[in-house]
Amino acid sequence: MTENVSLSENSEQLYGGISVTNRRITTRDLIAAKERGDRWPMITSYDALTAQLFDNAGIPVLLVGDSAAMVVQGHSNTLPITLDDMIPMVAAVVRGSSRALVVADMPFGSYQLSPEQALESATRFVKEAGAHAVKLEGGARVRPQVAALVEAGIPVMGHIGLTPQSVNVLGGYRVQGRGAAADDIIMDAKALEAAGAFAIVLEVMPAELATQITQAVNIPTVGIGAGNQTDAQVLVWQDLLGLTPPPHPRFLKTYADLRSIMTTAVRQWADDVTSGEFPSADQDYR
Ligand code: KIV
Repeated sequence: MTENVSLSENSEQLYGGISVTNRRITTRDLIAAKERGDRWPMITSYDALTAQLFDNAGIPVLLVGDSAAMVVQGHSNTLPITLDDMIPMVAAVVRGSSRALVVADMPFGSYQLSPEQALESATRFVKEAGAHAVKLEGGARVRPQVAALVEAGIPVMGHIGLTPQSVNVLGGYRVQGRGAAADDIIMDAKALEAAGAFAIVLEVMPAELATQITQAVNIPTVGIGAGNQTDAQVLVWQDLLGLTPPPHPRFLKTYADLRSIMTTAVRQWADDVTSGEFPSADQDYR
């Protein structure tokens, strides 16, 4: 792998509009961005090469999501992935990046039991992988876990609305917080802020509710399928760049068509192998 972007001493770089000088983005930078009204992007990453690419592209926050269960491991939901599966991915993303804050997603079963279990799991992400923060799903019900982690010095990103680890209770990947259910989600956001979370993911909920939550809390909200009034946006990179096959959720806009670019390139190479065009003399060692 080539070296990460080399920044000269004191060279100032903009990361999603946030200015840093030869250091990583911190949770304080993200909270300050909200105070200024500056929006920022967060993208998933599960390996060193994409981490390097997204970091060099100026993305301030990389999420090693438990979506890896689906887009890396091929499961149909996020439930099977384990802490042991995710630790090497988080370590690779930390190694591949130099400016981004790396958030490790706590997998299903690694924090629900108790604040002690959450602390043990999050500590592994910090000590064994170098994670700068963790994310966990749930609102008021995980307040003790969030408080315990923050108390121990581990920054926590909350995640409410459509929480994929609860897919079996929710009865599918459905819009959350319509009608009377909105009040519960606002309470959840406030509970997470009170427990010390530094940001909250708002997934698949009415845009109006996400706007209300964004105005009700002083920490950044990170939307996915939650309209354009949140403080930040997040997407799974394979969705954003058109690698995942359709059908795509309504909230997705693809910015590239990697699926067809890669298919065409691989077919071309395979044809060249079968026809004897590859390798040519240009690829020979002499
Ligand atoms: O696991 C994940 O990638 C996530 C984001 C979609 C927010 O939780």
